[in-house]
Amino acid sequence: MSQRTWFITGVSSGFGRQLTDQLLERGDRVVGTVRDISKIADLSNGYPESFFAEVLDVTDRDAVRKVVEHSFTKLGRIDVVISNAGYGLFGAAEELTDQQIDLICLRNTHRQSLPRSKPERMNRG
Ligand SMILES: NC(=O)c1ccc[n+]([C@@H]2O[C@H](COP(=O)([O-])OP(=O)(O)OC[C@H]3O[C@@H](n4cnc5c(N)ncnc54)[C@H](OP(=O)(O)O)[C@@H]3O)[C@@H](O)[C@H]2O)c1
Repeated sequence: MSQRTWFITGVSSGFGRQLTDQLLERGDRVVGTVRDISKIADLSNGYPESFFAEVLDVTDRDAVRKVVEHSFTKLGRIDVVISNAGYGLFGAAEELTDQQIDLICLRNTHRQSLPRSKPERMNRG
């Protein structure tokens, strides 16, 4: 399979980290975002040619726009965008605050990435 370039938010742990490990292992390129760069020092050191770390809090819309813009420009193309960063929210609907609901519903990364993705490149899987 030819090399693909991925943009994945929240690669410090969990699904994002697992996916990033497997993609780098098979030879793909990954832009991985974290809030704390020290958590992925091993990836930066282990894959200096194919792993590109960016610091990002996905609740910061301006920062998302800048990082997405920068990454598309730097790498030339991004084939797959994974908006993974987030957390589980548990509780009765009437007990949760509007702010909590807004945070888990944010899809900033996709909103900023879609205009840069040509239809033939978009992942339909
Ligand atoms: N695990 C499940 O059963 C399950 C089920 C359905 C959906 N999900 C969703 O799948 C995603 C990953 O889940 P997981 O279990 O792998 O969770 P996880 O291990 O807690 O990882 C969450 C990742 O998101 C990052 N993150 C959280 N808030 C962020 C923010 N505001 N800005 C930037 N990064 C942020 C965390 O970074 P830090 O290290 O900086 O905290 C971490 O890298 C989440 O969106 C979760 O809601 C999970």
